[in-house]
Amino acid sequence: MNTISISRRRFAQLLGAGAAAAVVRPTLSFAGSPEQVASSQVVRLSANENPYGPSPKALKAMSDAFDLASRYPDEHNNVLIDKLAKINGVNHDQILLGDGSNEILKLCADTFTGKEKGKLIAADPTFEAILNQAGVNGAEVVKVPLTRSFSHDLPEMLAAANQGLIYICNPNNPTASITPKNEVREFITKTPRETTILVDEAYFHYADAPDYETVIPLVKDHSNLIVARTFSKIYGMAGLRCGYCIAQRETIEQLRPHQMWDSVNILALAAASASLDDPAQVPNGRRLNGVARAFVTGELDTMGYKSIPSQANFIMFDCKRPVVPLIQALKQRNVQVGRLFPTLPNYMRLTIGKRSEMESFLAAFRQVAV
Ligand SMILES: Cc1ncc(COP(=O)(O)O)c(C=O)c1O
Repeated sequence: MNTISISRRRFAQLLGAGAAAAVVRPTLSFAGSPEQVASSQVVRLSANENPYGPSPKALKAMSDAFDLASRYPDEHNNVLIDKLAKINGVNHDQILLGDGSNEILKLCADTFTGKEKGKLIAADPTFEAILNQAGVNGAEVVKVPLTRSFSHDLPEMLAAANQGLIYICNPNNPTASITPKNEVREFITKTPRETTILVDEAYFHYADAPDYETVIPLVKDHSNLIVARTFSKIYGMAGLRCGYCIAQRETIEQLRPHQMWDSVNILALAAASASLDDPAQVPNGRRLNGVARAFVTGELDTMGYKSIPSQANFIMFDCKRPVVPLIQALKQRNVQVGRLFPTLPNYMRLTIGKRSEMESFLAAFRQVAV
């Protein structure tokens, strides 16, 4: 039996048989409703998760970390932060870990938006979590429509800026499109220092367009820039919850007081840290995603449905009719796809799963889209 099997067995012994089944062959039954428990056939293409899961190194590291479950994460935070600092060419004190990058987004909203602090400016459509949080904080939320090529309209966003926070999601969820690197660079240079910029790079590892780049190298010259990353996507750890941000030390110290102590659990820390030691995880994830994405976009194209060029592990395509009835009809056939994005009512967001899952989607879509 290889090491991973041993880890899984140990996991099973510690958590019980139900959890073991979830590890060996993940289904929705672990947290699902009775209907979901009854149906392990659900094809879940709704949340931009990674169908291949965490690195084998991460699974082993979690198993090994069970002995630490009774300890607070303390110094284990530092191990991960040190690795991330080295990889990204920044100092240890320029990184803050979060309980998923959602916690980072919440910290940014809490620190920089509100009645007194300022408004949130975001694209429309974009990933909504931070909009909701800014709204909870009583902040004005300004939505700036994407351009015709589905990139952020940075001049419009800049024109609306006045303290507060500007959220740039690049690649953007739900459109999977990028905002070109020269435009982002110019925008960051022009934005007044009183306005904070959060660039969410959750899908960074999937983007390979020559026109795309990370803005982490710009942090050193811009005290108002924060870059968010996650282990939920290419590292396959959405259920474990680990993300982080990179900014100048003073900015990190502004965010930190808003955070709960020990918000990242020890298994997530162990898995994240081990994932970074696996040289195969990122290239494999990127390659498998690229192949399945090319397959499904090709098939849809042949059927006459055009996709927005995708730089992520999901696509958005024009279904040429209101998407809501299609979402519901697919659900009845056990295929879950993305929700409605009101400004693009005829577009479906579809996560790229394994080839077999894309085949299931296509079979169901062919039935419902007649
Ligand atoms: C653009 C973007 N940012 C952040 C998140 C949150 O990810 P997590 O909290 O799992 O790191 C998501 C999740 O889908 C996302 O699409």
